[in-house]
Amino acid sequence: MPQEERRGFHPEGEGVRLRTLLPLFEVSQALMSEVKLDRLFGLIVNVVQQETKADRVSLMLLDGLSQQLSIEAAVGLPPEVAATARATVGQGIAGSVAQTGQALVLNGILQHEWEQEGQAITSAICVPLKVKGSVIGVLNSSNVTREGNFGEGDLDMMFVLAGQAAIAIENARLFEELRAKQADLEQLLAELLKAQEEERQRISTEIHDSVAQLMVSASYHTQSSSALLSQSKFERARDEAEQATRIIGRCVKELRGIVTELYPPALSELGLLGALQENVEYFRRETGTSCRILNTDLPPQLSPVQDMVIYRVVQEALNNVRKHAQATDTEISLDCDEGRLVIEIWDNGRGFDAPAAGGSRPASGGVGLLTMRSRAQMLGGDLRVESRPEGGTRVVLTIPRSSPDNLSRDRKESREDPSSVGGGSP
Ligand SMILES: Nc1ncnc2c1ncn2[C@@H]1O[C@H](COP(=O)(O)OP(=O)(O)O)[C@@H](O)[C@H]1O
Ligand SMILES: [Mg+2]
Repeated sequence: MPQEERRGFHPEGEGVRLRTLLPLFEVSQALMSEVKLDRLFGLIVNVVQQETKADRVSLMLLDGLSQQLSIEAAVGLPPEVAATARATVGQGIAGSVAQTGQALVLNGILQHEWEQEGQAITSAICVPLKVKGSVIGVLNSSNVTREGNFGEGDLDMMFVLAGQAAIAIENARLFEELRAKQADLEQLLAELLKAQEEERQRISTEIHDSVAQLMVSASYHTQSSSALLSQSKFERARDEAEQATRIIGRCVKELRGIVTELYPPALSELGLLGALQENVEYFRRETGTSCRILNTDLPPQLSPVQDMVIYRVVQEALNNVRKHAQATDTEISLDCDEGRLVIEIWDNGRGFDAPAAGGSRPASGGVGLLTMRSRAQMLGGDLRVESRPEGGTRVVLTIPRSSPDNLSRDRKESREDPSSVGGGSP
């Protein structure tokens, strides 16, 4: 059907509509492409001022905690007023719009508390900025010098602009949040790489100081033994050989310690629970602190990476109890709840100021908490440390039951399973 014959199509009317919509479309495009919040606030008030020709425009945002509105950007307002003006939800014009979520059009002399004599507002429109039904702020337009009152057209225009502005603000906020998270991750990664480098250095020093030294010493003794043998000094040659054997024995022990630290054999031999129980047993014997595993509600088949992360976090948490807590009681609980694995390690020791050390690397130079946290994040989970001086410590590790490596394994398995959709050969 030709376009002109469509019902209700009036070429002239459509032209007018298009002419009104086009500037709005451009405004909308401009707002949506600004992701820097402060620049976006400025853009919003300028656009509203252009479209409503108001003497003053201000954009106020709501702080959910204090229930106060403050001005983020304004045109036509003295800067000192814009910087300090506040409105409480429920009070004044902006406050009641924020409370009810309903726009207000006011015509007639209005006096605001911050106005000076002779600067009365003659008319005002105040519309709420809403995101998913909740008010996040208000947009004010007011006249002080013009006689003209605001009409329905201005209110409609403000509604449209407020709708666009609210979405643009929400977008920009999400974008900034994402950028902050990204920066956080980058910092975490840098700290992790540094920690990893330090860990390598520590292991290298440990090998150098123990195993390497012992091997050098053992080698001297075997050389000396063979020299003594060639001189037929059998007694002394045997002493030297025995000395070398003793040193090699110590060396093997040291190596076992280092290897266990790198990858605990208990994990593959006894499974996660067995390995944890062995650790707890060792902790109890070494510290004399009471320690038990409470509930063991973990699903049977965790991925090797999940096993390793849980094992390492519990190990480091117990190390911290041993090193710092002076506790008399420690509990570990392993839980599975709504698709998440929740592992808690609690002690009744001296505690510490957790927020100061919980985030990034603490001033004390420790990397334990940091490494625990990055291990949790590696699996899409998180690590919380609840502690205060003299109040004990609770470390809570939460990881999704289906970790990324689980998912890829599941996917692989389902590809290999001929009964799964598309898995069989044709
Ligand atoms: N269970 C705990 N009880 C008391 N203090 C703790 C505990 N766990 C951690 N801390 C405090 O947090 C700091 C950082 O811990 P961590 O990052 O593991 O580093 P490190 O153990 O090498 O000092 C410790 O130095 C200690 O002051
Ligand atoms: Mg530590």
